[in-house]
Amino acid sequence: MIEIKDVTKIYTSKNRQVIGVDHVSLTIQAGEIFGVIGYSGAGKSTLLRCLNLLERPTSGQIMIDGVDLTSLNSEQLRQARLKIGMIFQHFYLVSSKTVFENIAFALKAANKPKEEIEKRVNELLDIVGLSDKRDAYPAQLSGGQKQRVGIARALANDPNVLLCDEATSALDPSTTKSILTLLKKINRELGITIVLITHEMEVVKDICDRVAVMQNGKIIELGTVYELFTNPKEELTKSFINSILQFEVPDHLLQKRTGTMVKILFKGESAEEAIVSDMLQTFKVKGNILHGKIEYIQNIPLGVFIMELTGERKEIERALDYISERTNGLEVIAHAA
Ligand SMILES: Nc1ncnc2c1ncn2[C@@H]1O[C@H](COP(=O)(O)OP(=O)(O)O)[C@@H](O)[C@H]1O
Ligand SMILES: [Mg+2]
Repeated sequence: MIEIKDVTKIYTSKNRQVIGVDHVSLTIQAGEIFGVIGYSGAGKSTLLRCLNLLERPTSGQIMIDGVDLTSLNSEQLRQARLKIGMIFQHFYLVSSKTVFENIAFALKAANKPKEEIEKRVNELLDIVGLSDKRDAYPAQLSGGQKQRVGIARALANDPNVLLCDEATSALDPSTTKSILTLLKKINRELGITIVLITHEMEVVKDICDRVAVMQNGKIIELGTVYELFTNPKEELTKSFINSILQFEVPDHLLQKRTGTMVKILFKGESAEEAIVSDMLQTFKVKGNILHGKIEYIQNIPLGVFIMELTGERKEIERALDYISERTNGLEVIAHAA
């Protein structure tokens, strides 16, 4: 378990002070994949680097499994850091060393004997699916393969925690998916807690259990990924969600419509039931679907429909009551004039 207790990080440069992280308190459970999302400059990297004291908080504490990292001496801190792996957007591999040597480096730093290093690196190459690239140099690898080396190196000393700083931001969408799948496997099979920062909601949606939204150094919203997707409170959270779900209605759809425009949100089981078609059969209304989508978030369906209903006012109202009793959200966007 990671406890971030009232952590603030203030940078001082040229007599100017910049707040990187502003009074953040947060508990990350052992075994979860915890995401932090925010735009550039929000303080995500600073917060992540505080977790292994790459940045020392100006105030506050970082407790990992009950140990306050800020109270450790340098040797104790070195030992503690071996149990916290980290991967980066730009991989940071040593270009003059082979894949094997890049990974072995982390084990040499922990003073492991030669045979053990050999055995462990081969194991790690197997975990990340790069056994055939053992003797290749970084320049001969694709971006996804480089990140796999980064992951193997981060796992070398059997960490309990893996910190990921925009680990997929330099990768194309399909490579991103494969790296996220690997991270999920590492989390589920090796039981490693993952803290991941990103500016992409797609990444959060794909693998995180919980997510915190960060802005101006502060956590402004926090919850399970499903909670945030279905019930976002803050404007920033909504904009991140809209970036992939496009729940906003385009203006041109709203104009020149003669019926009642409604947005219907289906959560969980209701997303898979035939509520809309039942409604159309039960009431004398016509429905014209303008937009519809079902997303699966943490394997729970979340559907949205934007419909235009036409018919007699009274009949439409009864139809709307019917829908609102059976779904999780109904919003009348515009009524017929
Ligand atoms: N080493 C540093 N010195 C001074 N200011 C910094 C330093 N690192 C980050 N900052 C500032 O702290 C704030 C948060 O930065 P950062 O944690 O990198 O955000 P993010 O990772 O969300 O893009 C920004 O205003 C940034 O300019
Ligand atoms: Mg950053």
